[in-house]
Amino acid sequence: MSTGATRIVALDGPSGSGKSTVARKVAARLGWRYVDTGASYRAATLAALRAGVDLDDADAVLASVRTARIELSTDPEQPGTWLDGEDISDAIRGPEVTSAVSAVSAVPAVRAHLVELQRVLAGRDGAVLEGRDIATAVMPDAQVKVYLDASPQVRASRRAAEQHAGVTPGGSPASLVSTVAEDLARRDRLDSSRAADPLRPSPDAVHLDSSQLDAAAVVDLVLDLARDAGLVS
Ligand code: DC
Repeated sequence: MSTGATRIVALDGPSGSGKSTVARKVAARLGWRYVDTGASYRAATLAALRAGVDLDDADAVLASVRTARIELSTDPEQPGTWLDGEDISDAIRGPEVTSAVSAVSAVPAVRAHLVELQRVLAGRDGAVLEGRDIATAVMPDAQVKVYLDASPQVRASRRAAEQHAGVTPGGSPASLVSTVAEDLARRDRLDSSRAADPLRPSPDAVHLDSSQLDAAAVVDLVLDLARDAGLVS
């Protein structure tokens, strides 16, 4: 087992690739912290929206984010996000935040501010971080780097099923899938084309495609990588 640097598994990829589920399960299996960096960008976005600032005004966005108290649970069994003490775990998944988050996360100074928070949250005893730039920017020294992807169709179906859960068990209407597919394509485009730490695979990341794999199979592959890297016995 490695004894030097903090043990880190970095899991990057686009929305709907399954990385949140996998990251949580891997962290739970290892007894490590779980850091959902997307939730920190979503919380920052809600802070900016509530402050009523113009999202094109980078200085105003940064000021609203800096004054906000953003807190994340790192317990993979009980994830949660708070803004100034209020539980915003559900609010940050809503359409308002989802459509504004790419603009807020494109501001370099907002990223620098949140990366600092993400590194503190990771602690020193082992953590699984998931996001878009973990391997390239947040934790470039992570011992395990995984880039998880899936076909656009599979990703859209998964996200639509999450949004539709509990309404019509067993499937999502085609219209919802196509709306979600459009939103994912828009965010992929924005997240991959921004100047500051865009979504792109780290050259040293292991690529996994989850289109044909369930979460349990991907979790096992990531745990194998952690073992191969000497992070766990
Ligand atoms: O993973 P998610 O869908 O909750 O992320 C929401 C947005 O946050 C995503 O569209 C891009 C941004 N993000 C980012 O820029 N960098 C990260 N490490 C994580 C998320």
